Parts: sequence; structure tokens; C-alpha cells
Amino acid sequence: MTMKKTNIAVLGFGTVGSGVVELVDKNQAEVRAAAGGEVYVKYILDIRDFPESPYAGRIVRDVDVILNDPDVDVVCETMGGKEHAFTFTKAALEKGKSVCTSNKELVDAHGVELTAAAKAHKCSYLFEASVGGGIPLLRTLREGLKQEKILSVVGILNGTCNYILTRMDRENMDFAVALSQAQANGFAERNPDADVKGYDTARKLAILASLISGKHVGYEQIPCSGITKVDVSALKKARAQGKAIKLLGICRKDPETGELSAVTAPCLVPESNPLYGVNDVFNAVLINGSMVGDVMLYGRGAGKLPTASAVVSDVIECIRNAGRFIEAGIPEPGVKAELVDFTGPLPCGIEAL
Ligand SMILES: NC(=O)c1ccc[n+]([C@@H]2O[C@H](COP(=O)([O-])OP(=O)(O)OC[C@H]3O[C@@H](n4cnc5c(N)ncnc54)[C@H](OP(=O)(O)O)[C@@H]3O)[C@@H](O)[C@H]2O)c1
Repeated sequence: MTMKKTNIAVLGFGTVGSGVVELVDKNQAEVRAAAGGEVYVKYILDIRDFPESPYAGRIVRDVDVILNDPDVDVVCETMGGKEHAFTFTKAALEKGKSVCTSNKELVDAHGVELTAAAKAHKCSYLFEASVGGGIPLLRTLREGLKQEKILSVVGILNGTCNYILTRMDRENMDFAVALSQAQANGFAERNPDADVKGYDTARKLAILASLISGKHVGYEQIPCSGITKVDVSALKKARAQGKAIKLLGICRKDPETGELSAVTAPCLVPESNPLYGVNDVFNAVLINGSMVGDVMLYGRGAGKLPTASAVVSDVIECIRNAGRFIEAGIPEPGVKAELVDFTGPLPCGIEAL
């Protein structure tokens, strides 16, 4: 009997895309067993050439090579950005090719439209890597916890900010010094605004809020402040009270009224809360379900192989569900959430700073 083979393509041979190619190669046996057949990276789209790469022969510059090849069933979008990534993703879905992405910006801006396109063409648009990097968070919410009423989700969703706050706290370091150290270590972009101003956390929180409410939440709806105003004296004061300052994305759903609240802000986390001990570049998400209570997921929210691991988990799910649309929790077009302000205490003993 011949073994089934699925060809996939990777758009963008950068940090995450090269991780996807490496993982599919190094964990071939595991991927094959999970997918029920061989998974082969047939094409890699990039603007640049990579003459030294062992995968140089698979690099293409024209996306139509991928789109017009009926033997490519799954596409990984690891390019980032909203323009080409959107055009290429939509075109792939319209050809019936499932797309797995790490691009939270695109999911936030166009996830509704892209999911509708996937549904119309009997394929899937999955985005596990877009929130929490390597942490299997979205799949846990939509599979492991699907029987639950989710009451709140509280997350440390940005490793750069967590690293900076950890350095400031442990080494009495000013924000600017900690930021430049994060940049020197490759944990922060040259333009760090999206991270330190909280927008990256808000984008991820918007995706989580959409999933738990079943309505679309755009990141611009979420009140958002970052860590640029946190100083060493605030961290010391918090520490003296047995608390830590963390940049959190917080979302709460009222089980009676269904009202949804969400905010991104630096907050005081008491020692009794498991998020208190989450330091350096790590991410963690504390989910509260009506029956299960608290569930915490912890891991690497970014990085080549952790993020690639999440992308490949989506690829495997698409292969297992070939020819079918996977319901990933993004609402139908036009179903927009209204957010209400938080009233009463924040979840899990957390306080506003
Ligand atoms: N890095 C992480 O740890 C991480 C974690 C979670 C999510 N993500 C998300 O994953 C996405 C990719 O991130 P990354 O860090 O892997 O970025 P990256 O290292 O910059 O890789 C992107 C690659 O795509 C290529 N590219 C960009 N536009 C293209 C186009 N129109 N056609 C062909 N190739 C194109 C880039 O080429 P050039 O370099 O020549 O521009 C680059 O090689 C982003 O949405 C990011 O937010 C990243």
C-alpha cells in the first residue's frame, strides 16, 4: 500500500518559516505518524535567495507557483504583515488550500473574512501560533475546554515586556536600559512600540476575547496601556507588598449576561496567583472555567522552533481534516462584540496598578 503524502508550502523563510521547515525535517517520524502520511515542504516563498541553505532548491519567488500547484494542500503563512500576507492567504483559501499562520496582526484584522473564505472553499484557516507562540492555547480552549463556560482569561502574552519587567525588578534597572538589553539579546525589535505600548498583547487578547465570546473583538476596542511608564520604584513598592507587576491581557465574560470586558495594562499580581512567578521571556495564560476552575498554560510565547511547533500542529490538524472546514472559533462576518467596562474586582486577585 502506498503511503499518503501531503505537500505543503511555507510563505516567508524567516524566523518562524525556517523553523517550520526544520521541524518538519527533524521530527519527520512524529509528524508522519500524527498526520497519517508523509508531510513534504514542496515550496518556500521568499523575496531573498538562500544559496547556502539545504532547502535552496525549493525556494520560489512567485506565489503563483504555489497557488497554481494542485498538489499543494496546506500553506503556512509565516511572512507577517497585512498586505501580501492577506492577498496570498485569501488566494490560497479560494483554491481550497488550508492556511496555518503565526500572524496575529492578520488574524486580528482579517480573520473573519479569511475564515469565511475557508468555509466557502471547504478548507481551514488556523492560527494557533498567533497567540502564546508554542503554548497549545487556542486548541486547549476550543477542544479541551469546549464543555466549559469560560469566565475569564488572564495572560502574560508578550515575552519582550515580561523580560524587560523581570530585568527592571531583579536588577533595579531603568526601563530604557532593560529595553536596550532586550534588543541586544534579540528579544525586542529595533522598533519596540508594538510590544512595549501593549498593542501586541491587545491583538492577542482580541483573538482570545473573540474565541470565548463567539463575537468579533478588534484590538482597537480594547483599552490598552503598555509598560513605558512603569518605573523601578513601582516595582519595589509592589515587591514590598508581596506582589509583582506584569503586563496582562485580561478578558472576563459574565456567565449570566454574557457581557464581555477586556483590558491590556500593567497590573499588580499577588504571590498567590501562579502568574506571579512567570518571568523572563516566558508567557502564561490562566483560564477560569465554570466547572474546571483555574487552568494555567505556561511556555515560550515566541522563538523559531516553539512558534513553528504551533504552526505544524495546525498543519497536522488540516491534513487530518482534508476537504473539511475546521471551526476554529472565529465568528461569522457581522457578529461584532460590544465591550463593557470592568466593574468590581479584577479576576484572580489581580489589581490595577
Ligand atoms: N519570531 C517569533 O518568535 C514569532 C512568534 C510568534 C508569531 N510571530 C509572527 O510570525 C510572523 C513572521 O515572523 P518572523 O519573526 O518569522 O518574521 P521574519 O523573520 O521577518 O520572517 C519573515 C520572512 O518573510 C519574508 N517575506 C516578507 N514579505 C514577503 C513577501 N511579500 N514575499 C515573500 N517573502 C516575504 C521576509 O523576507 P525579508 O527578510 O527579505 O523581508 C522574511 O524572510 C509575524 O507575523 C510575527 O508576528 C513571530
